[in-house]
Amino acid sequence: MRFVITNTYDEMSKEAARFVAEAVKAKPDIVLGLPTGSTPIGMYKELIRLHKEEGLDFSQVTTFNLDEYRGLSSDHDQSYRYFMEDTFFKHVNIKPENINFLVGTAKDPEAECQRYEEAIEKVGGIDLMILGIGVNAHIGFNEPAKELPANSYVVQLAEETIEANSRFFERKEDVPKEALTMGVGSILRSRRIILLANGSSKKDAIYGTTNGIVTTEVPGSLLQLHQDVVLFLDKEAAVKVSK
Ligand code: F6R
Repeated sequence: MRFVITNTYDEMSKEAARFVAEAVKAKPDIVLGLPTGSTPIGMYKELIRLHKEEGLDFSQVTTFNLDEYRGLSSDHDQSYRYFMEDTFFKHVNIKPENINFLVGTAKDPEAECQRYEEAIEKVGGIDLMILGIGVNAHIGFNEPAKELPANSYVVQLAEETIEANSRFFERKEDVPKEALTMGVGSILRSRRIILLANGSSKKDAIYGTTNGIVTTEVPGSLLQLHQDVVLFLDKEAAVKVSK
């Protein structure tokens, strides 16, 4: 694992965006894996700036988002599809047909997960996966567990995840209890991976992700099995990092 540790969230976001921009320039038809959440908002903002001011071109880029709440349609304002449209897609020149998402309202969610895996395979796999991490060290929506499915699947969200995500909903009861997510295998099959984390609430998750022990009880720790991972951390998230 490699580390880029910055003083501020803003610097972390810019460093990560620069890394992604270099990857897009090196391979204009790159396949990206994308996260939602608060963490990557600054990175998306900087990528939009690079597009608008420096001509960073997304016209050949293909994207696969990591996860989606089960039961929320793409136009629901708390769906991850809606978040991505609003935060990033509508501000750059990604072609709509190159945007891929797990469909939260699919009648047969297992078949939907299978479709997603096949779609990833069909484009030749993910070149660069961008991740955030939960306070419980989940990646995508792979929650701590005794064992984890390798491929995309339907997951019951952990209580702390529902709690953490309730900040975006009017009432905690409104937070969906299930999601469709890429599995840890889908993530680890990506050629390169970067993970962004900021703030002291993530320090334990980052410790568990970097401390040399691999366990599905700390899903982020599985990234230690991958040979090309870069962590972009602000100094608060990095306090307990073991390099
Ligand atoms: C979201 C995702 C999650 C988030 C994680 C951190 O698509 O895959 O793993 O990255 O829950 O969320 P924030 O950034 O809101 O702290």
